[in-house]
Amino acid sequence: MPVTTEELNQEIKKRRTFAIISHPDAGKTTLTEKLLLYGGAIHLAGSIKSRKTQRHAVSDWMEIEKQRGISVTSSVLQFDYDGCRINILDTPGHQDFSEDTYRTLMAVDSAVMIIDVAKGVEAQTKKLFKVCKQRGIPIFTFVNKLDRFGKAPLDLMDEIEQVLGIRSYPMNWPIGVDGKYMGVYDRQKDRVELFAEDITHGQEERASEIFALDDPAMKQRIGEEACETLLDDIDLLDEAGEDFDLDKVAAGELTPMFFGSAMTNFGVQNFLEEYIRLAPPPAPRKSSDGLILPNDTKFSAFVFKIQANMNPAHRDRLAFIRICSGKFERNMDVYHHKSDKVVRLAQPQQFLAQDRQIIDEAWPGDIVGLFDPGIFGIGDTICDEGHKFDFEEFPVFPPEKFARVQAKDTMKRKQFVKGIEQLTQEGAIQLFQQAGAGTESYIVGTVGTLQFEVLEYRLKNEYNVDIILQMQPFEVARWLAWEDGSEVAPSGLRGIDRGMFVYDRKQNPVLLVNNEWALGWITDNNPKLLLNHVPFDRKEA
Ligand code: G4P
Repeated sequence: MPVTTEELNQEIKKRRTFAIISHPDAGKTTLTEKLLLYGGAIHLAGSIKSRKTQRHAVSDWMEIEKQRGISVTSSVLQFDYDGCRINILDTPGHQDFSEDTYRTLMAVDSAVMIIDVAKGVEAQTKKLFKVCKQRGIPIFTFVNKLDRFGKAPLDLMDEIEQVLGIRSYPMNWPIGVDGKYMGVYDRQKDRVELFAEDITHGQEERASEIFALDDPAMKQRIGEEACETLLDDIDLLDEAGEDFDLDKVAAGELTPMFFGSAMTNFGVQNFLEEYIRLAPPPAPRKSSDGLILPNDTKFSAFVFKIQANMNPAHRDRLAFIRICSGKFERNMDVYHHKSDKVVRLAQPQQFLAQDRQIIDEAWPGDIVGLFDPGIFGIGDTICDEGHKFDFEEFPVFPPEKFARVQAKDTMKRKQFVKGIEQLTQEGAIQLFQQAGAGTESYIVGTVGTLQFEVLEYRLKNEYNVDIILQMQPFEVARWLAWEDGSEVAPSGLRGIDRGMFVYDRKQNPVLLVNNEWALGWITDNNPKLLLNHVPFDRKEA
């Protein structure tokens, strides 16, 4: 039976697909775990990550992740709450995050930004926020660790506006004194929620009591002074603050802000409920064929991540797709535009933790892992046969770290080249070659240094090749062109001895230099040279 628009509308309205963005240690893993706890997907918090002794999360697949105790690759968690189907796409939270982190943000409909109440807006949050802002997706803010001393809520609102350029609207407001908050005032429902003591160290849901704002029993519980401060704060927010405007939230111009503590389950449930209420379901997507509506009965999806050998027990390659329209069914035949081939989707998988489940159907907003016979690339579109189009191309993330890579044993060059090609296709690394160089060595560019460890590990484990890796001192890459369109060759450039002249995979000329200062020197010496952060025919993130 072909799917109907009616059925699609039913499913779409239930879907919430988002990622959590934050700086390492702000509490992303803890909050994810608590959302799963409240969603009933796990029964006792603490199972995702037994910290310190065994620092790894359910989403850790590769051995390297376990060794380092960090999440290298993005994972997908799905659960139901209050009639909604929630898809959380995990973004690697380590300092050395990679292109994967950015690309995950292409597949979501909204983002949750966690801010540590004591630390405020940190470096990685800023970078990830920028990508979300450029996509114009709604961003919800969760100020975490309210059980500890931290910055004053008003100061944080100010900081978010100054540093990120977005106004915030507090959905709730903490009650009591810094470090010892007793509850929150819910501005939408105009009521107070006071929390019972956390006796299970956040392992179980936390009890709370609801009071009207003018309830004397509430006043008695929190004390005269706290009550007066609360009433003053509410007046101040109502008078001087921004009005709540869902259109502005949808356009990414206003962020609803929640205060809570993921560790002690303070404000988590309220956050989840409000988030589900306000966050958007799957939206239309731009394509070469105009906007593709999610309730279009014709199936379409795009690949946003490729991962090989996720589990040593299954030696395989998975392409993760985000469904954009229509209904996905197991064993369906789809058209892969890039290769101009029809592909049967035989072993679709969905994930919760390390369990893989073969799925029979999925809907717009859902993420499915497909067994990849080696034809899929990042950003590829798949759709119903006879409907040829491409979704908007992924933006390019300029590499910032570079290394020269070669096989230790020259006899293994063939495997080395195969492995390098594979990892480039997966989008784990960007590949460059020095002018005149063969396949003995490559210059590899990445967004974070962790990718080099992943490269080394995977070449050894999957291709049996040991490599020699020499980090290069460059931090800036610029694609080059002459104003008059003539060919750029190293001999025609002045002052480039401070950098390295390389070609990308499509033979576009690129210059690698140490820093912006060196770049200034080169632009001064070559006034007719055009420089771009990414290839001239691509869009920057
Ligand atoms: P991440 O994924 O964003 O990197 O952060 P993660 O959840 O791993 O949390 C980082 C640290 O912050 C952990 O402490 C965690 O317990 C703590 N944390 C998370 N949420 C809260 C909160 O609401 N309040 C407080 N006080 N701490 C919080 P750790 O010392 O690394 O581990 P552990 O010994 O606490 O398990």
